[in-house]
Amino acid sequence: MLNFDLYNPTRIVFGRDTVAKINQLVPADARVLILFGGESARRTGTLAEARQALGDRAVFEFGGIEPNPSYEVLMEAVTVVREHHIDFLLAVGGGSVIDGTKFVAAAARFDGEPWQIMETRGEAVASAIPFGTILTLPATGSEMNRGAVITKKATQAKLVFSSEHVYPRFSILDPSKTFTLPRQQLANGVVDAFTHVMEQYLTYPVGARIQDRFAEGLLQTLVEIGPDVLSGGDDYAVRANLMWVATLALNGLIAAGVPEDWSTHMIGHELTALHDIEHARTLAIVLPANLAVRYEAKREKLLQYAERVWGITEGSEAERIDAAISATREFFKLLGVPTRLSAYGIGAEHIDAVINQLESHGMTAIGERQDVTLELSRRILEASL
Ligand code: NZQ
Ligand code: ZN
Repeated sequence: MLNFDLYNPTRIVFGRDTVAKINQLVPADARVLILFGGESARRTGTLAEARQALGDRAVFEFGGIEPNPSYEVLMEAVTVVREHHIDFLLAVGGGSVIDGTKFVAAAARFDGEPWQIMETRGEAVASAIPFGTILTLPATGSEMNRGAVITKKATQAKLVFSSEHVYPRFSILDPSKTFTLPRQQLANGVVDAFTHVMEQYLTYPVGARIQDRFAEGLLQTLVEIGPDVLSGGDDYAVRANLMWVATLALNGLIAAGVPEDWSTHMIGHELTALHDIEHARTLAIVLPANLAVRYEAKREKLLQYAERVWGITEGSEAERIDAAISATREFFKLLGVPTRLSAYGIGAEHIDAVINQLESHGMTAIGERQDVTLELSRRILEASL
């Protein structure tokens, strides 16, 4: 097991009818800015519920944070924060709204041009406005982690920053908030959470038995509940499991003491920035191809994954690994998520542009062994066609 330093200060308030609890969690004298996305927060009534719970505090609203939140729109929110002397932020939404809120929290207290936050991957962040979240879409884990992904539309740069100053103070996880989600977003949530676990689990063995068992438990749970999540019924128990599994998939727990990959995500971010494919959908394309191309380097964990997650014990090593990669692809397809670039009209002629973007973002030696060079990323993209 590798050395680690695990810190996570986010309070999770989980369950039905928990939004009202923000009244005890937001300071009584706070000047609050509620940040949300398009219309879902208003349409579903969650925005009104949050406003009611905040009582007679000074409350302002900033709507319009897009999926894959942009620097350009978020800087408008920073202006609102400064104008109204806001000292607490409340995100109501999915990963995009929560990530956007993290950026606003850090940017509003930043000396200098806030894009430096992204260029330094968060190193430059010295403080942030405190914030809480009401999660409406289980997928990213942003509700209990220190990362955020922000896009500068002007340059099509989708970059990650991370800072311990942007852990949410609290997150409200009410699974019944997921009942209004379209099937496509539910499927995306399963795929994103699944891939988060894989990025932290499917590397090489370091004798971290408990982390492996946690990760396999999360993967098995996703495989088990995936079809039920999409079956159409508003089953609270299923949604509760989805919500908690997605949070645990990326809150630091399973990453502690193990190598991490993240190359699928880095390649996926470029596909979103250039071709506007939803985040999870890029992962469903890249992950199976990535595993197939890096078969040798990941051999031991692939065999473990085959046996423990999919119950594959028959056949040669190569056959078991192939079967596990196929099972992964079939699982995504079963959820209605395509696993090939061609489903989005992307062909070999588009690969150069993705590689150029990876290069300009410094993604030239990624993966758990930093051996995913641009050449290897190209092979992965070719295998995704
Ligand atoms: O904009 P509104 O109208 O609110 O609609 C949203 C949006 O269109 C809708 N939605 C959310 N909750 C709903 C709902 N519709 C009905 N009922 C509800 N309860 O869903 C759409 C997608 O929302 P979005 O927040 O974009 O989705 P997601 O949670 O998948 O977030 C994706 C973003 O998170 C980043 C991704 O790159 C992407 O930008 N990620 C963040 C991570 C992190 N911070 O740790 C890690 C992830 O790997 C990921 O990269
Ligand atoms: Zn993700």
